[in-house]
Amino acid sequence: MNTAARTPRHVAVIMDGNGRWARKRGLPRVVGHQQGVDRVHPVAQAFAHRGVEYLTLYAFSTENWRRPRSEVSALLRLLSTVIEAEARACLRDNMRLRLVGRVDQLSPELQAKVKAAIEMNSENTGLTLCLAFDYGSREELVRAARELALRGLSPDAVDEEQIARSLYTAGMPDVDLLVRCGGELRLSNFLMWQAAYAELCFTDVLWPDFCDTDVDNALEEYSRRSRRFGALPKGDTS
Ligand code: IPE
Ligand code: IPE
Ligand code: MG
Repeated sequence: MNTAARTPRHVAVIMDGNGRWARKRGLPRVVGHQQGVDRVHPVAQAFAHRGVEYLTLYAFSTENWRRPRSEVSALLRLLSTVIEAEARACLRDNMRLRLVGRVDQLSPELQAKVKAAIEMNSENTGLTLCLAFDYGSREELVRAARELALRGLSPDAVDEEQIARSLYTAGMPDVDLLVRCGGELRLSNFLMWQAAYAELCFTDVLWPDFCDTDVDNALEEYSRRSRRFGALPKGDTS
C-alpha cells in the first residue's frame, strides 16, 4: 500500500507556546492562554474549508495539573467562559464540538456546561472539533484496559478494534497529520495510540500566532509525504 497523502481526514494540533507568547511581550502567561483561545475557531474554520473532517486540539493535559494553582484555575475558568460561545460558533458554522479526556476532575458546574455545549450541535454534519481537555494517552489507555476488564472480555477477545472503541476518540478515524507548534519536538502524552501512523509536522510558530498560512504550510507539507504504512513504495517490488 502506498497511499498518496492528499488532504488529511483527521488533524491533531498540540497548541503550545501560549506562555512564551505572553512572556515575550512582558505579559502574564494567562494573557497568552486568552490569545490562544481566540485562535481556536478561526483555525478550525481554516481546516474545515480545506476539507479536513476532524480536528483535535490539545488544550490541557493530564500533566498540566502540575502547573501553579493560579494558572490551572485560570485555564479552567477559560474553558468555563468560552465553551458556550464556542458551541454557538460551531452551531453557526455546522461544526460538531466534542471533548476528549477525563471530565470527572472538573466541577459539576463545568461538567454540566461541557455536556450542554456538546449537545447543542450534535446534529451538525461538518468538521468535528474535538477539544482534548484533561487528556493524556496513558490515562486513556489505562481507562480502556479497565473498561475491557469490567466487561469481562476474555484475553482472546481483546484486539485493536476493542481497544480503539474504548478510547475517548471512539468512532473517530486515526490521526493522519499531527502538528505541534511552539518549537518542542515531542508528543507530551497526546494521542499515542491514534497517531501511531500520523505524519508529524513541527513548527516554531507559537500557538497564539498560528494563522491560515500555517494551516496551509502544514497541509502542504503533508501532501508531499508518502505514506507507506510499513509496505514498499508503489512499483518497488524488486
Ligand atoms: C500551551 O501553552 C497551553 C497549555 C499547555 C495549557 P504553554 O502554556 O505550554 O506555553 P509555553 O510552552 O509555556 O510557552
Ligand atoms: C502540551 O504542552 C500540552 C498542551 C498543549 C495542552 P506542554 O507545554 O504542557 O508540554 P511540555 O511540558 O512541553 O511537554
Ligand atoms: Mg508548553
